Amino acid sequence: MSLLYGRQDISTVVWPENSICDRIWLLENVKGATGILAMRTETVDTELLDAAGPSLKAFSTFSVGYEHLPLEELAKRKIKLGYTPDVLTDGVADIAIMLALMASRNVGEATDVVRKGEWPRCPRSPFLFCGPQLSASAMHPSRTAGFIGFGRIAQATLKRLVPFGVTECIYLGNPNTPPNPKADALLARELSVPSIRRVPLSEIAEKSDVVFVLAPGGPETYHIVDEAFLRRMKPTAVLVNVARGTLVDSDTLAKALRERWIWGAGLDVVEGEPVINADHPLVNEPRCIVLPHVGTASTETRQAMAVLAVENVIAGVLGLPIPAEVYL
Ligand code: DGY
Repeated sequence: MSLLYGRQDISTVVWPENSICDRIWLLENVKGATGILAMRTETVDTELLDAAGPSLKAFSTFSVGYEHLPLEELAKRKIKLGYTPDVLTDGVADIAIMLALMASRNVGEATDVVRKGEWPRCPRSPFLFCGPQLSASAMHPSRTAGFIGFGRIAQATLKRLVPFGVTECIYLGNPNTPPNPKADALLARELSVPSIRRVPLSEIAEKSDVVFVLAPGGPETYHIVDEAFLRRMKPTAVLVNVARGTLVDSDTLAKALRERWIWGAGLDVVEGEPVINADHPLVNEPRCIVLPHVGTASTETRQAMAVLAVENVIAGVLGLPIPAEVYL
């Protein structure tokens, strides 16, 4: 924030608490603003934009996702939009791998036993807490990673999977871009993955040992992981969602876990968040790890996001090129 506070040419009003901004305070204090910097959790609507008024030139979101914003309304009002791509790629890819490992290796159940003081009473069965291994093994020399969405974070996740011996990467591409097998082959060579292929969604469900959901949110991807998808998955497969909760039908996922259609799930995002009650079926599924949307929550990543979000809003306010702009 010293980037902002140190300036003589910009006056800044900052919500003083370490909590979600009070709406009434926001509507009052945003009046006449030239720029707004807001967290992803803020409700941004015509009420807020009207409250700011015609002086508003720039909106900077502290997130890479911007599907929660009224894009048409921003465009209509000629308000420039900044976001925080790239700087969070590694932080989120790290969490994706962590969730894949935690879900496959039963970390939820295993840590529960320790936390409840039940470790000494655990039966000494040789297969206690066993789950499928993410890395290739004598039993499973080939490992297939499936990606729903294959952008920056997905590719950074794949890169991390290479030392695990992943033999095949299959992905669902952006429907607005044509398949490019040459680019896939180049990337495969660059990352030393034997095969990278763009495939239909059903193939991802059927062939993957681990599926990473990494596509943007919004109406086009709503419940892309639905009953048909989950029923097609291998019973030993793991589903990881680090994108948006709306991509996965959570009621059906809970059923899939309960009835063992799939092995486990690792979720950094859940439908309906942040209102997830402790009695939510997914929270209570022993083979489901649920995190409160903390994919970017490493000190390094949040620091880099903060700097970029501030640089975006300053540039927007001063009418300069925005370092990371969403062109509306
Ligand atoms: C983003 O930046 O969109 C991530 O989901 C974290 O909020």
